[in-house]
Amino acid sequence: MRLISALKVAFTGLVAIGAVTAYGHLSIGSHYAGATAAVVDEKGGMRVPSDYRTTYQMLGTWAVAADGSPGSKEMHVVYVSPGAIVSYRKDGHFADGTVLVKEVFETATNEMTTGTVSSAHQLKGWFLMVKDSVGRYPENKLWGDGWGWAWFNASDPLKTTSTDYAADCKSCHVPAQSSDWIYTNGYPPLSR
Ligand code: HEC
Repeated sequence: MRLISALKVAFTGLVAIGAVTAYGHLSIGSHYAGATAAVVDEKGGMRVPSDYRTTYQMLGTWAVAADGSPGSKEMHVVYVSPGAIVSYRKDGHFADGTVLVKEVFETATNEMTTGTVSSAHQLKGWFLMVKDSVGRYPENKLWGDGWGWAWFNASDPLKTTSTDYAADCKSCHVPAQSSDWIYTNGYPPLSR
């Protein structure tokens, strides 16, 4: 009887250690929990989530008009982390830990049966934003105004080439400041 109890305790301990180890692999030592922990490391370094095309939800698209010719020269496709849309529709705010991914594509423009049509062709890279309601990384210049901000070239989704959101991103997002720096008017799923 005693032996069995001892074995049980030992086994439970092993399972606990196993769970911690597995979680450690997933989380890359983040100040965030859940899915966001796989995107942000302990110093606020960010990476493009490897599974966003299958697990995130689509928010909307932008087409940047071509100069002087029909069609669009760029297309932007914006995704958001699971649960964020439901949460936003409840209170009109992006919940802490929300991740936004904006794909930037060069287009191909062709005559099709619907007319002159541009479609996503070559991926140039990703813009990433991570909601931070508590100011986790005051030392890191990629973080501020309630978000982590980063750009990734298509060749390296694990390492950003941006260094300072105030210089790289902020001025262009000022028109959206009143909606927490996000161009929410382009995203039909957010409207209630
Ligand atoms: C040249 C101006 C400009 C710069 C620089 C810029 N943005 Fe944006 N960003 C925009 C505009 C305008 C939109 C929405 C329309 C579009 O995509 O064309 C947008 C959309 C986004 C989106 C989709 C969510 C939203 O706000 O609607 C993300 C994510 C994003 N930007 C992140 C960044 C990050 C991170 C940086 C800096 C590394 C950055 N942007 C720099 C202008 C800019």
